[in-house]
Amino acid sequence: MQSKQSMHGSWANRWIFILAATGSAVGLGNIWKFPYITGENGGGAFVLVYLVCILLVGIPIMMGEILVGRRARQSPINAVRETAVEAGRDPRWGLIGWLGVLAGYIIFSFYSVVAGWVLHYIAGMGTGQFVDIGSDLAGKKFESLLASPDQMLIWHTVFVLMVVVVVAGGVNKGLERATKIMMPALFLLLLVLLGYSLNSGSFAEGWSFLFSFNPDALTWDAVLVALGHSFFTLSLGMGAIMAYGSYMGKKDSIGATVLTIGVLDTVVALVAGLAIFPIVFANQLDPGAGPGLMFITLPVAFGQMPGGQVFGFLFFLLVGVAAWTSAISLLEPATAWVVERFGFKRLHAAALLGFIIWLMGIASLLSFNHWADIKIFSMGIFDFLDFITANIMLPLSGLLIAVYAGWVLTQKMTRDELALGSSGAYSAWQFTIRFIAPVGVAVIFVVNLYDKLA
Ligand code: PFF
Ligand code: NA
Repeated sequence: MQSKQSMHGSWANRWIFILAATGSAVGLGNIWKFPYITGENGGGAFVLVYLVCILLVGIPIMMGEILVGRRARQSPINAVRETAVEAGRDPRWGLIGWLGVLAGYIIFSFYSVVAGWVLHYIAGMGTGQFVDIGSDLAGKKFESLLASPDQMLIWHTVFVLMVVVVVAGGVNKGLERATKIMMPALFLLLLVLLGYSLNSGSFAEGWSFLFSFNPDALTWDAVLVALGHSFFTLSLGMGAIMAYGSYMGKKDSIGATVLTIGVLDTVVALVAGLAIFPIVFANQLDPGAGPGLMFITLPVAFGQMPGGQVFGFLFFLLVGVAAWTSAISLLEPATAWVVERFGFKRLHAAALLGFIIWLMGIASLLSFNHWADIKIFSMGIFDFLDFITANIMLPLSGLLIAVYAGWVLTQKMTRDELALGSSGAYSAWQFTIRFIAPVGVAVIFVVNLYDKLA
């Protein structure tokens, strides 16, 4: 196999790729969702199950996505089709690429609305609007944001522009440059917040909320949550990791790289939990769920703590950076495809796609106010888009990628691309991607769907 280069460029080195992929992986899933679902599902026991899922489902599928992307050196839509042709299979397998890119695109449209809230809170914290605010007032403030399409539209617009600017810059001058600045900033902010929490929070209480080993709290449901989250948190099933893989160096080890990304994503999730819960407990607040934890509970906590204004500002900055680097990876696959397919300049492709996402996002943000009565399968527009992507498109896409990498591509292709060194490691990968991962994902898929619709 000749060593091809992507027309879009390639990462300067292996670490840039690791950081870029980690930027995609680390997002609201780590900082907001993981700590909460861990606490609700048995703490330490849940963390253990989650780690097993990362290892047995997340890591093998991520390896599959990257090997396809790097083999073909093209956007996911073209990469899946081209590797299918190389394997002597039906080019219509390329529909998997479509499914992923479409899912990422839809996710971006509502992810941007939430990221807009985060930007709003960065500004609010920065200007001291949450000093000594009580729970009631904090709740009202969040409600009044949701009731105001104008406010949300401003921040949604700003966020889409931020992402378009980076993606328009291309792999080297856009994504890579952003990665180099934002990822160190993200790690630094996280450590600063952890230090603050160690000093001013109820650290022991936060620690035991997260890690106390309580096997009784671990239900079948919790296992499903862990499995689903392992998937979402690693940005799998939406072309993001496959697209980033297509810019990866030919000689870099996919196995070692993916392990590093998995470990970093997990560590960030755990550290985020250790930063958040001690603050919540120190202020006698409820660690309970939903958007409320981040947008109501935490502002109250920061508002009444010494230095809380500064650290609250830094916290939302952290979340904003994390959401930004994730959204970049959602726009990249579709942009790369438009460039390949229609020969657009990257700037034009990114701007056009960004504009469509911006319009779609407006439907999402109106579903919190003027369009609150519009229901699709009894869900508002925002909830519906969240539902069809997270519960249908992503699992389906992940399942198909596992089947594709494990069964459709030739062994020669996957062995050659993974270059795992030992045949034992290859066999282990092959066994997990052929049997364990597809069955695991199929189970979440069916149970989740049954749960939601029944
Ligand atoms: N992995 C991100 C998180 O854990 O928040 C969410 C995400 C980012 C999903 C990028 C999908 C994606 F393409
Ligand atoms: Na994540």
